[in-house]
Amino acid sequence: MAAARRPVLAANWKMYKTAAEAAQLARAVREGARDVLGAREVLLAPSFLSIAAVAEALRGSGIGLAGQNLHHEAEGAFTGEVSPVMLKDAGCTHVIIGHSERRQLFGETDEAVAKKARAALAHGLTPIVCVGETLAERESGRTMEVVERQTEKALRALSTDQVAAAVLAYEPVWAIGTGKVATAEQAEEVQAFIRKLVNRSHGQAAAAALRILYGGSVKPDNIGILMAQADIDGALVGGASLKADSFLQIVHYAAG
Ligand code: PGA
Repeated sequence: MAAARRPVLAANWKMYKTAAEAAQLARAVREGARDVLGAREVLLAPSFLSIAAVAEALRGSGIGLAGQNLHHEAEGAFTGEVSPVMLKDAGCTHVIIGHSERRQLFGETDEAVAKKARAALAHGLTPIVCVGETLAERESGRTMEVVERQTEKALRALSTDQVAAAVLAYEPVWAIGTGKVATAEQAEEVQAFIRKLVNRSHGQAAAAALRILYGGSVKPDNIGILMAQADIDGALVGGASLKADSFLQIVHYAAG
């Protein structure tokens, strides 16, 4: 990754852990990540019901707290939804948007993702916008087309400054939770392409500032080679973030 961009190591705990378990893991990460926090950004995304407990465990630590989703309205009659105002109030700094599980299992469209990204920024939350192709799309040679559509739609309505402050995550769907990590070259190829798209749509400064994470079966033994790529600025980690020791090994990666 380029030296000017601060690496981001983000844990996505998905629908795992009770509040007590999440708080315990957060305390372990806090303890173990203390030495890297100046140079690296560490984020935890627990389930909504664990956010309060994790916020308490992280207070004053410098570790960021992310929601895994949000509704784009500030409030309203939307049963079962959580608003950006509520996430902010609970102590969140970031929010994951358009994760492939949301897109695939819960029908989130590119339009919904765009609205959510705008809402997050409007309420002072940094969006982590996920894009990525399915196996069928990759095998039919449509990876770049899919990633281009998802990226452009998500970022279209954002200003240059907003894009510069945002985080994007390239997560090939076929690599999520499967143990099949994209090779560093495959990930770099797509991530360099994404940065070029952003250069075209929002200019060179925004493209240079935007952090682009890789996600999909990131583990302690592959993070180093991934982080050695010019356009990989961090990782969004699912399975390997559920245990303190493996996530802390990832946080302490040595690139190369
Ligand atoms: P994984 O999940 O690390 O378990 O593949 C990544 C993600 O879904 O963000």
